[in-house]
Amino acid sequence: MSNSIGREFIRKTAVQYLPVSPEESGVPQPPLELPYPHGARLIALPDAASVTTASKDLQTVIENRKSVRAYSGEALTLEELSCLLWLTQGVRGVNDRPATLRNVPSAGARHAFETYLLINNVEGIQPGLYRYAALKHALLELEISDDLTARVTRACLNQQKIGGSAVTFIWAVVIERMVWRYPERGYRYMLLDAGHICQNLYLAAEALDCAVCAIGSFDDDLLNTELGLDGETVFAVYAGTLGKQIKA
Ligand SMILES: Cc1cc2nc3c(=O)[nH]c(=O)nc-3n(C[C@H](O)[C@H](O)[C@H](O)COP(=O)(O)O)c2cc1C
Repeated sequence: MSNSIGREFIRKTAVQYLPVSPEESGVPQPPLELPYPHGARLIALPDAASVTTASKDLQTVIENRKSVRAYSGEALTLEELSCLLWLTQGVRGVNDRPATLRNVPSAGARHAFETYLLINNVEGIQPGLYRYAALKHALLELEISDDLTARVTRACLNQQKIGGSAVTFIWAVVIERMVWRYPERGYRYMLLDAGHICQNLYLAAEALDCAVCAIGSFDDDLLNTELGLDGETVFAVYAGTLGKQIKA
């Protein structure tokens, strides 16, 4: 047990071992979100309020939440995707520090995640890889290619639900945004933050008659490669497939 890397991680990220942070050393804060490549195609998302989730009460939504691995095959509307992005990573505002305030909590409001979307079946959107441009509430087109779903499925150890999903959300961390304030302990906080995001996706999906299955099982290197991430400064942490519920 004493050689357990997990145990060691917990021990060495205890608060008493925290080194002086980059923030305390006067290092400027990293940007609030990844920059867009020059000439990037941004697709504006409809107002998230254009979809209402009010027909189910919170207790019912929580009690009905479950992991679902097969979906109806019906397309998601852009309004529904907009709502799901808003409820999982939407930016409510930027304060004076500056830090983003979102619909999920984050340690120190670091909000170190970027949402990558493998879109298979959303009305009006070409299937492909996109990133959520949270500050603009827009989609950033990254890659349109025929074999993308197969490549991401392979990277996720052949979990076939990815191919059947309308959208697979993949949350990748820009670790500098977290460790700027919380050096090694930030790795703990980042994992906790990911849990909040995915839980909001589960609950928002249930409210919209959609369903989700979390994915923690993937080949890190392969998935990072497929997303175009370097795996060091930005890397995939968690994912979730989503589609419309199969009606009973
Ligand atoms: C951190 C985490 C990782 C998971 N990874 C996977 C996964 O890779 N593949 C999968 O099919 N389910 C995955 N799941 C879903 C769990 O298997 C599921 O939550 C569990 O069986 C309990 O079922 P329920 O969500 O319906 O309550 C994951 C869940 C969590 C919380």
